Amino acid sequence: MTTTAAPDPAPVRSPLPQALAGSTAVLIGGTAGIGLATAELLAAAGARVVLAGRDPERLDGAVRRVRAAVPANGVEDGGDGPVLGVVADVRDERTVEEVFARAGAVDHVLLTAGGFEGAGPLADLTRAGAQAAFESRLWGALAVARSAAPRLAPGGSVTFSSGVLVTRPRPGLSALLGVAGGIEPLTRALAVELAPRRLRVNAVRFGIIDTALSRRAAGAEEARSTPVPLGRMGTPEEAASAVLFMMANTYVTGEILTVDGGFSIG
Ligand SMILES: NC(=O)c1ccc[n+]([C@@H]2O[C@H](COP(=O)([O-])OP(=O)(O)OC[C@H]3O[C@@H](n4cnc5c(N)ncnc54)[C@H](OP(=O)(O)O)[C@@H]3O)[C@@H](O)[C@H]2O)c1
Repeated sequence: MTTTAAPDPAPVRSPLPQALAGSTAVLIGGTAGIGLATAELLAAAGARVVLAGRDPERLDGAVRRVRAAVPANGVEDGGDGPVLGVVADVRDERTVEEVFARAGAVDHVLLTAGGFEGAGPLADLTRAGAQAAFESRLWGALAVARSAAPRLAPGGSVTFSSGVLVTRPRPGLSALLGVAGGIEPLTRALAVELAPRRLRVNAVRFGIIDTALSRRAAGAEEARSTPVPLGRMGTPEEAASAVLFMMANTYVTGEILTVDGGFSIG
């Protein structure tokens, strides 16, 4: 009779800031907003970062900005250096695969891509609009997880983006939130599925964070001026530091961490 050896337990690593030094993180949606702030914090912590987004000019600008955050004694891997940019669209699996092929060995992945596909009142909703939300939000997340999982080292992580409107919705977002709300159960389901490989899957549920996305959202002014117990919007850096926690803590998986200044309880 053949017996299968139990896999080794998940590795233990020091928490922040040491945990991320020398690691490689792929940030899909890393060229603006929360993704870009995460890239800057990671580079400053000594990680190698791979940024992906659709607009090549925005990508070039982001790579330059993140390079400026690399400490003088930062990682040099002899290849593309500590910051690499790859043009990709999360709705196109071929380009997602290309990001991971270019990245090489990967420890952590963050997905912040996605906009307001499918937003609008119910009366104006089309099947194509709802499908666009699905392609960008849920299929995008599944495609990223599928490309990432075989390449991640034990202890590695995938972090998805969720948002407080999933629990406190506003009118005109039913299709978008119906689809984007699926990120949270997807996070827990993938955490269970990938735990035997000692990979972790988490999500951050962001409150109103001061980025281009929250400025151009439908009902943006109302959302941005909604009273929040802590009295203001969040900064991209505050949102990003929650992502670094998810990446660094090797005992956190299947978790949805809310960073919203008390929006959910206010
Ligand atoms: N900001 C908030 O208040 C807030 C609140 C709750 C949840 N969230 C969620 O948090 C995530 C990040 O938000 P953010 O405010 O940082 O957004 P952002 O400032 O608009 O940045 C989005 C980033 O994703 C890229 N991107 C967008 N669509 C993409 C696609 N199809 N494929 C690849 N890259 C794509 C963008 O670059 P390109 O356009 O060049 O591709 C950009 O780099 C989003 O999922 C958002 O829904 C944000």
